[in-house]
Amino acid sequence: MPTTANAKRKILVTSALPYANGSIHLGHLLEYIQTDIWVRFQKSRGHECHYVCADDAHGTAIMLRAEQEGITSEQLISNVSAEHQADFARFGVAFDNYHSTHSEENRQHSERIYKALRDAGHISTRDIEQMYDPIKGLFLADRFIKGTCPKCHSDDQYGDNCEACGATYTPAELIDPVSAISGATPEVRTSTHYFFKLPDFADFMQGWINGGHVQPQIRNKLLEWFESGFNEWDISRDAPYFGFEIPDAPGKYFYVWLDAPIGYLASFQNLCEREGIDFDSYWRRDSEAEVYHFIGKDIVYFHALFWPAMLEGAGLRTPTGVNCHGFVTVNGAKMSKSRGTFIKAQTYAEYLNPEYLRYYFAAKLTAGVDDLDLNLEDFASRVNSDLVGKVVNIASRCAGFVKKLGDGQLAARCVEPELVAHFVDAGEAIAADYEAREFGRAMRKIMELADEANAYIADKAPWVLAKEEGREQEVLDICSVGINLFHVLMVYLQPVVPTMAEQARVFLQVDSLDWGSRHHVLEDHAIAKFKPLMTRVDTDKIAQMTEASKEVLAEEQKLKEQAKGPLADDPIADEISFDDFAKLDMRIVRIAKAEYVEGAKKLLKLTLDLGGETRTVFSGIRAVYAPEALEGRLTVMVANLAPRKMRFGVSEGMVLAAGDQEGGIYLLSPDSGAEPGQRVT
Ligand code: MSP
Ligand code: ZN
Repeated sequence: MPTTANAKRKILVTSALPYANGSIHLGHLLEYIQTDIWVRFQKSRGHECHYVCADDAHGTAIMLRAEQEGITSEQLISNVSAEHQADFARFGVAFDNYHSTHSEENRQHSERIYKALRDAGHISTRDIEQMYDPIKGLFLADRFIKGTCPKCHSDDQYGDNCEACGATYTPAELIDPVSAISGATPEVRTSTHYFFKLPDFADFMQGWINGGHVQPQIRNKLLEWFESGFNEWDISRDAPYFGFEIPDAPGKYFYVWLDAPIGYLASFQNLCEREGIDFDSYWRRDSEAEVYHFIGKDIVYFHALFWPAMLEGAGLRTPTGVNCHGFVTVNGAKMSKSRGTFIKAQTYAEYLNPEYLRYYFAAKLTAGVDDLDLNLEDFASRVNSDLVGKVVNIASRCAGFVKKLGDGQLAARCVEPELVAHFVDAGEAIAADYEAREFGRAMRKIMELADEANAYIADKAPWVLAKEEGREQEVLDICSVGINLFHVLMVYLQPVVPTMAEQARVFLQVDSLDWGSRHHVLEDHAIAKFKPLMTRVDTDKIAQMTEASKEVLAEEQKLKEQAKGPLADDPIADEISFDDFAKLDMRIVRIAKAEYVEGAKKLLKLTLDLGGETRTVFSGIRAVYAPEALEGRLTVMVANLAPRKMRFGVSEGMVLAAGDQEGGIYLLSPDSGAEPGQRVT
């Protein structure tokens, strides 16, 4: 734990390792921005602080996604890693090292920790029964099994709980279970699994949970779990699995969550080798270094129970702190793809300055675990009033006069030493807020100072004095004070808005904006030409960003559907039984009406006549068919497809078309003589 303010601390910081099968979105960014601000603050204070992260690259989901994309798992994780790192760079998240859990360092550390646990008797094995997909040759995790709820009989329920009625059950209790991967009926099979004997660490964990390493809310949650008793933790998965094989256990792989936190060690090891840092001085039991993991509240169990127990069992030190944050909501609700509030990092960055988001998150962050709402209106007004209206305003009001009256040179003597000292002295309280992750409180203090600076300038009204003769020195003195106040504020804001701070540093012509540099009062000091440091949030861009987020989604759904649907040159899909085929109710229909859909680039709305009954179907054929060309024409539809709710209405079935990879679409039509309503067999 930190003791004296001046002693140089050794600090290792991590953020959770993002899964290598999805894009970074604004929810993730809360965590990486929170951690990055804290790390930049520690570095600004002169401590030795290392910030490492990696992609979490193992597991079934990644293996299946690679297969779906027709690439190897290694290719997939390397593509995603590049994408993630580009996203992080755009948002100023400056890791000292970004690695992968699929790395040699991680294999070595995982094996070493596993062997230490095994040799100390903390690993057991036993046979368990599990659902198995006989077509894929794969054991199925609960979320890969679908079926009918045994309680309310809703179809298409995943794994172990029903979204319709809330019932929980084992996948074996599902009616007509099928593998969500291949559609096969799963079988129950037995296989040997390896377990980490968490109960061996019960006493240790009780001490750890109460040892001040987690926030009070998290401690209470952990104690609840603790009281309901620990089970042994299943750490193995059967081949095929994308991961590391367990030593002396052919065909058995470490479960992704076993080697994921070890990825922190692996990434740090990789950094140590590159920069000559002493790894063991951070990780041995009696280490004086501090280690902090920043995580979201959904993964507390892994970081505050399993991980400390694993480290303890392997003879390594445990984390100083597991710092947990809440979840991001947008406009008061869970991020939603259909509302366009499921915003990817990349989409945001195409429309808005990433530092707006860094500031907004900072302004709303506390050390607690409450969710954080990104209200897009509040976001714009907060950034505009604070960063642009208050902070940048100080510099832009003063810079012109310094240029004109001092030829770019600040006054030789600061005429308000007490005011400047008051700003400098506030630094200790602001630092304490940063240290405690009370960023919102720090931002409020900084903005109060900005208000004081603006009040000073408004009160002195240099623009009025500038019109009077012989008062040039006074104007220069006032504006030099303003620039000094701005200087101190930028020191305080640097961890939050590093790009803006760098521009300010160039403008102020100082070597650094580190915490200690605020003591340096700028007198008789040349500054550079002022350039606007940040512009106001353009609210049109916010609207465009949410619109674009809807489109990103539409694109993705299309790709997914294409990947599933048989394309012209796809291999023939797996065999199905006659019964499966007979389930399809295909009918001849007449297209009674075809219309464009307002706001949909790809869809036509079709009104279909089934010989008495009519159906509305949305079909993605707008690119190749004009509505008038379709009206009156016969085609084939799947009539018993479950209705699908789309953004524009409910689609009650699907018309059949062939497609090719060049984007050609060919609607099927029957020979003449067929009648609407006839069944197609
Ligand atoms: N791969 C695991 C972590 C392994 S750490 C050894 C994982 N990955 S994740 O990509 O799903 O999430 C990465 C981090 O982002 C987690 O800490 C998670 O809590 C956080 N968030 C993901 N969505 C979030 C929000 N909507 N809001 C805030 N944080 C969120 O979990
Ligand atoms: Zn149900």
